[in-house]
Amino acid sequence: MDKLLITGGARLDGEVRISGAKNAALPLLAGALLGETPVTLTNVPQLRDITTMLQILGNMGVTVEIGDQCQVLVNANTLKTAVAPYELVKTMRASIFVLGPLLARFGEASVSLPGGCAIGSRPVDQHLKALTALGAEIQVENGYVHAKRNGRLKGARFVFDMVTVGGTENLLMAATLAEGTTVIENAAREPEIVNLADMLTGMGARIEGAGTDTITVQGVESLKGGTFRVISDRIETGSYLAAAAVTRGRVKTLNTDPMLLDAVLQKFREGGAEITTGPDWIELDMKGQRPKAVNFRTAPHPAFPTDMQAQFMTVNVLAEGVGTIIETIFENRYMHVPELNRLGAKIAVDGHTAIVTGVDTLQAAPVMATDLRASMSLVIAALAAQGDTLVDRIYHIDRGYERVEEKLQGLGATIRRVSGKESA
Ligand code: EPZ
Repeated sequence: MDKLLITGGARLDGEVRISGAKNAALPLLAGALLGETPVTLTNVPQLRDITTMLQILGNMGVTVEIGDQCQVLVNANTLKTAVAPYELVKTMRASIFVLGPLLARFGEASVSLPGGCAIGSRPVDQHLKALTALGAEIQVENGYVHAKRNGRLKGARFVFDMVTVGGTENLLMAATLAEGTTVIENAAREPEIVNLADMLTGMGARIEGAGTDTITVQGVESLKGGTFRVISDRIETGSYLAAAAVTRGRVKTLNTDPMLLDAVLQKFREGGAEITTGPDWIELDMKGQRPKAVNFRTAPHPAFPTDMQAQFMTVNVLAEGVGTIIETIFENRYMHVPELNRLGAKIAVDGHTAIVTGVDTLQAAPVMATDLRASMSLVIAALAAQGDTLVDRIYHIDRGYERVEEKLQGLGATIRRVSGKESA
């Protein structure tokens, strides 16, 4: 099992190119199933989760061609069997995104129920309720969701019980081919939803209100393919900016979009960082100063994203003062806390609240990644720890961060990947 060996102490300084967003590419790949002609996506990140989604599509007989320059072509006309098996779905719960498109286009689908994961039970009840509202017949047995429709899906008004990104995406995709009008209330507003709606509109769908909490869809008979760009990864962007803040350095992130992470940039500024932005870049400069602790609370977009909670906690770990963090989206998203405390952090967790008392330095120690964003928070902390930190189970990080050690080396970090057998 690979590990990352990081020697802390270097102040990061330089530029890093941000990849396409994992959480946009995954629904876009699923949405490509709706196209009667091939869909080409550009700016697709090369990540383990993307590979898994391509395997799920390929396993169904869908033609997938990976071009150079991060391009992927999907041709769903060769689909043989609308089944997403457990052995693939269990490694990536976003596989559930294929359910809506398969049902809408091909009339039926069997998708393994995604398991929970480290950060929470993560049920899909809202996805199933939403598709049922469009007239789908859904049975859950032997760990699989079996969905089918008799005739076309029928548009309906549906109110989500809570804001769900995946649930909004599944319903939006299915509604594009339903008969009549679908109104999605209490919809998620994440930029990845807008990216998906833009692609579907480019394929011939009729959608209004993406990016707001009410999305209206006029169903059409069919959708065609086309070429569409995956938006930049706002969480990868925020993660590298957090690495700059923690090391009191300066990092300019390229191929990104400052409009995608206002709430995070505001918190960096509150912590004393100098943030400058351009149309496709963001620079954070600490001017060698120690960040100041800030309080933040995660919530659906446009509020502070839960996917940045672990990384920004690490900024508070090394900041001046005490910062309070409240995680409102997932019930178990503090798995990084005991590992950060092993490095010398002072974090006390009480339910959904974490109180972080800033320390001036951390001491290296072997730590273990537990989930995707937690693993990045440990890497960021290790960059500021004295000595050599070994981060284990970094297959988690490879799910969502493309070439992470290469990008950090480019910013002046001393980091290398060691195989499980090699000692540190
Ligand atoms: C997406 O997950 C992201 N993943 C997550 O990113 C992100 O943390 C999350 O949205 C919230 O922003 C992808 O887009 C692939 P939700 P998703 O449905 O859609 C509850 C990362 O690190 N819920 O918005 O699964 C759920 O338990 C990952 O990149 C139900 O109860 O999240 C959670 O408490 C982690 N029933 C809340 O809603 C449902 O049917 C929000 O979940 C669906 C969700």
